[in-house]
Amino acid sequence: MTARGTDDPAKGRDQPLATVGNPLPRVNGTRLWQSLMTMAQIGATPGGGSNRLALTDADRTGRDLFVKWCQEAGCKVRIDAIGNIFARRHGRLASSPPILMGSHLDTQATGGWFDGVYGVLAALEVIRSLNDADAQTDYPLEAVVWTNEEGARFPPAMMGSAVWAGVQSIEFAHSRTDKDGIRVDDELRRIGYLGEFSCKAYPARAAFEVHIEQGPVLELAGKQIGVVTGIQGVRWLEININGESCHAGTTPMDARRDPIRALAKLIPDFFEAVDQCKPLARLTIGRLTTSPGAFNTVPSTATLTVDVRHPDMTVLDHLVRTFEDRLEVNCKLHGVGFSIHTELKCSPVGFSVECIAAIDRAATRYGYAKMHMISGAAHDSMHLAGVVPTAMIFVPCEGGISHNAAERARPEDLEAGCNVLLGTALSLP
Ligand code: HGY
Ligand code: MN
Ligand code: MN
Repeated sequence: MTARGTDDPAKGRDQPLATVGNPLPRVNGTRLWQSLMTMAQIGATPGGGSNRLALTDADRTGRDLFVKWCQEAGCKVRIDAIGNIFARRHGRLASSPPILMGSHLDTQATGGWFDGVYGVLAALEVIRSLNDADAQTDYPLEAVVWTNEEGARFPPAMMGSAVWAGVQSIEFAHSRTDKDGIRVDDELRRIGYLGEFSCKAYPARAAFEVHIEQGPVLELAGKQIGVVTGIQGVRWLEININGESCHAGTTPMDARRDPIRALAKLIPDFFEAVDQCKPLARLTIGRLTTSPGAFNTVPSTATLTVDVRHPDMTVLDHLVRTFEDRLEVNCKLHGVGFSIHTELKCSPVGFSVECIAAIDRAATRYGYAKMHMISGAAHDSMHLAGVVPTAMIFVPCEGGISHNAAERARPEDLEAGCNVLLGTALSLP
């Protein structure tokens, strides 16, 4: 696909913006950085990060700013029933399916300045740069904000893209509640993002997401661009261990049904199982709570969250089965029961060969050092890949740190990733 823009307004001649041999189209890296820093101040945290948990006032403020910027860039903005935002720049072939470029604006509570928001603002920068060049593309372009990618306030993660891709129903998503029992649909209504458009996939030419890697691979390899070929599988389990509350002072140790006794052996067993699947397996116990949580009452229940990941589904299934076996053994030994709730179950995905090749070509044409890789982190593209030709572009982040206020990325890397997004979008036939 070529985008045509007048190379010399005086002459008004149409000049393909991005064809071989032509000066490569470039984004305005300074403007991209400024937009990122402005957005970073919304929900700014003392540690130098951003906290815009999904559907909070901070998320609304970030969304409102993004919508304002898109409208200033001449986009037509629409919101769907789960709050996904689609900012459309018309193309010459108006009836053609659009190219989607998006990510998320919501963050972890301990979020940084770039996770998700970089992909959203890079999409906007592509549109702004095409406007600067007065270039018209063949395909329409849509900058997209997918609602609640993190799942930190409302599990499961990647909610907006899951509903759009038909992986979750809108009713299920709307019904999800945070720890205070507040529902998703009520929060969408409260912040003004319960959109009128139905949330379901429509034909799209392709979907591209540019994102910081959130790991150390690119930086260690000295590469500026990750051509992402797929995403590893992920499972979220919520495990409840049920014993019996009793007096801390009077109850003899062997007369207790204490969930912590089971946990004390269970957690080492889980990590031992994952160590057997080194170096690719990942295990995170993100939340560990007991009830009633008093000094002097043996807990009746203990609840832990498990996030386990691996690129190979059979290994992932093996790990979950091992966790279940260890639960059986350790809970029986200590006279307690357990229940497991699967909160998220995503198989490993492979991206579109055509989209990967387009990213590869663009990165080569810009002369960026690149490498193929799979993503350790989950992304909305995981769901999009099921309905639209999809692939991702990674740039390094410092020390691979993310989901942490210290998350940082270099302006030149962010600009490079955005140039590749532009070049890729323009290169699709
Ligand atoms: O969980 C993830 O991998 C993503 O950062 N939400
Ligand atoms: Mn993300
Ligand atoms: Mn994240």
